[in-house]
Amino acid sequence: MTNPSQLDEIGIGGLGASRKRVEDARFIRGRGNYVDDITLPGMLHMEILRSPVAHARIKSIDTSKAWEIPGVRLVLTGEMAAQRNLAWMPTLSYDTQAVLATDKVRFQGQEVACVVADDPYTAKDGCEAIVVEYEPLPAIVNPRQAHAPDAPIIRDDKEGQTDNTCYAWEVGDKAATDRAFEQADVVSKLSLHYPRSHPSPIENCGAVASYDPATEKLTVYMTTQAPHIIRAAVALVAELPEHMIRIVSPDIGGGFGNKVPVYPGYVCAILCSILLGTPVKWIEDKSGNLISTGFARDMYFDGELALRRDGRILGVRFHADTDQGAFFSDAQPSKFKIGLVHSAFACYDIPTGHITARGAYTNKAPGGVAYRCSFRVTEAMFFQERIIAAAAADLGMDPAEFRRINLVRDDQFPYRTPFGFLTDSGQYQKCLDIGLAAIDYEQFLREKEEAAKHGRLLGIGISTMTEPLGAGNSREYDILGIKMFDSAELRVHPTGKAILRTGAKTQGQGHETTWAQIVAHELGIPAADVVVEEGDTDTAPFGMGTYASRSTPVAGAAVAMVARKIRAKARKLAAHLLEVSEEDVEWELGRFYIRSAPDRGVSIQECAAAAYGNMPDGMEPGLENNAYYDPPNLTWPFACYIVTVEVDPESGVWDVLRVVAVDDCGVRINPMIVEGQIMGGLTEAYAMSNMQFITFDADGNCVGSNYMDYLLPTAWETPGFELHEVVTPCPHHPLGAKGVGECAAVGGPAAFVNAVLDALSDTGVRNIDMPLLPDRVWEAINSGQNVSGAPPVRS
Ligand code: CDP
Repeated sequence: MTNPSQLDEIGIGGLGASRKRVEDARFIRGRGNYVDDITLPGMLHMEILRSPVAHARIKSIDTSKAWEIPGVRLVLTGEMAAQRNLAWMPTLSYDTQAVLATDKVRFQGQEVACVVADDPYTAKDGCEAIVVEYEPLPAIVNPRQAHAPDAPIIRDDKEGQTDNTCYAWEVGDKAATDRAFEQADVVSKLSLHYPRSHPSPIENCGAVASYDPATEKLTVYMTTQAPHIIRAAVALVAELPEHMIRIVSPDIGGGFGNKVPVYPGYVCAILCSILLGTPVKWIEDKSGNLISTGFARDMYFDGELALRRDGRILGVRFHADTDQGAFFSDAQPSKFKIGLVHSAFACYDIPTGHITARGAYTNKAPGGVAYRCSFRVTEAMFFQERIIAAAAADLGMDPAEFRRINLVRDDQFPYRTPFGFLTDSGQYQKCLDIGLAAIDYEQFLREKEEAAKHGRLLGIGISTMTEPLGAGNSREYDILGIKMFDSAELRVHPTGKAILRTGAKTQGQGHETTWAQIVAHELGIPAADVVVEEGDTDTAPFGMGTYASRSTPVAGAAVAMVARKIRAKARKLAAHLLEVSEEDVEWELGRFYIRSAPDRGVSIQECAAAAYGNMPDGMEPGLENNAYYDPPNLTWPFACYIVTVEVDPESGVWDVLRVVAVDDCGVRINPMIVEGQIMGGLTEAYAMSNMQFITFDADGNCVGSNYMDYLLPTAWETPGFELHEVVTPCPHHPLGAKGVGECAAVGGPAAFVNAVLDALSDTGVRNIDMPLLPDRVWEAINSGQNVSGAPPVRS
């Protein structure tokens, strides 16, 4: 019998422990196992030939020279794929996408053919030997061109497609919003473009497809954030039985949304393996990844706020044009064409609003991926915080005070937003107050005034936002008809050690560390005794994968729920061991005891042993279970980011002085990992606002598709971050946790841009599109005009 254990929860790596990441032991020693590390017997290598032009009719493809190269085993064209009904595939947004072009190419970098050879170099030579004759067509690089009446129709492959619109959507109350604008004292307007950006994970996409003709089983090792959805998609696209497909997502070198879509490269590798009956490896190169895989953002906003003179917002309306590229292939809830952009303004108490949105096909790689973001909330929050700053300036009001007047108050929860979301908890004012105190707001305003006397331009930018994390609940959220729940399976072995599997897939977020902490919290089994496995569809329970910071809200909740199921069975075992009835048994961390005799108890490990060796009559042996968790609502973290900058009026260069972040993501499972997530997100926010330039010229050429233009920030450029926390538990999550992974990347960019524009407030400039490169800032200072970054640009 075990005496009172009084286990130290932090000591066993439970909830709230800043436990070191267990996965790092292999990563920092170079012992990670990425797709490119996988080598199978007889494996061949595939390379892709991509289109050099953005829009052209394919007149002919001559592959004869490629076939002649020694070592080339297969040259696959769209025509050959079409014979297998695989030249096109369905997308996650109910569109179709070319796997290999047959009729036309529709963006620069589109897949035209692929070559399989004994090694990647020979395969590359094979690609270069293919001769393609293109008949150029005019390229479209922005929605304005796409929606012009005389625009060439990009998707003429689609029956009934008579223009370049891929969706039109609206939400809100138009009549009530119109009335709010009629009653307004001041109407504040803003138009801006959130530029295309690229998630740029360090590891590119890749796959090792292995079809075994003897067993008829297809195994695909691939870089995917959502293995089960991929399995379903492969079953549909390749018309293979789902139980004969195994998708394995090994270690992933960063995903950031880039590894959610199904890319033609994966499909080609699978098809080539089926055709050759041997494993085929495809590893994308860096420029291929930058030019052709999932882009994010590229959204145009025109919006306005109806304001009362005293600072109250009466209504909001905006129109959003999204540039989807040639194929509409975002992963997003089927119901919401514009990917939750209507979560904008959820943290403000605004009576009414109306949004219209329209998607355009253009001659660009498919866009709209959720880059560290819940579908399209990054764009939404950016526009929100930019127009909030503009409105405060229009009213002549302090931007912090303007926010304070309009933020939803603590006593207003649960709060229904004008666009139908239900936010359920938060302490918005408190977060703002902590942020303002940390940055020493009043003191900075004095410094700014003083600096201005000497011609120095200081600025301060605030961004406050709540965002919906954790899609979904099954009532409202599905992808391709599959509901957005998630899952966990827990097996406790006879010695009390355990293996946990979930339907999520870590790509750097540290699930192997934090999920074990949840088990430790629920069962008292030390986190070190729990191994976490994700990403293999043959072993993991079905789940929707990891994106949109949904892991903790959904899969993390499933982990808590499955552990509670285990505890319920262990209680029966404890009662049996203690020879009392179950009602007389109490639980404390890691141990059951008799209520009337607390000294008499059994540990969870003793219960585990009994589950296999000493169970009561009639009890099924074993201690394992699974849980599928369907959250009742999204989780709504809140964040306040404040940035101070100094702009050099001579060069337009701006330096960050300080960055203060106050995040409320509810209960923190691992505070150190949460802080890492926030720092990573702020780093990306800084990079997006400052240095990441990737765009298109009038011919549809991708400009900036290299890491000399599209800069990834290093520790050298990245400013320091000062982090603060508020904890408002999520009322419906079993642990009170809310998602956090993307908050800083979503809310951060507006704080940087608002700071630079605040420094320029005397110039009358209202907007500079990101990235705020020195030449753009310089142009704004010297012209006093807004600076647009929308394509086409001069190459
Ligand atoms: O879906 P994804 O893993 O990208 O995002 P997340 O659910 O926000 O979690 C990111 C990491 O932070 C995971 O390791 C979480 O367990 C951890 N986290 C935490 O410790 N406490 C929270 N309240 C939220 C996340």
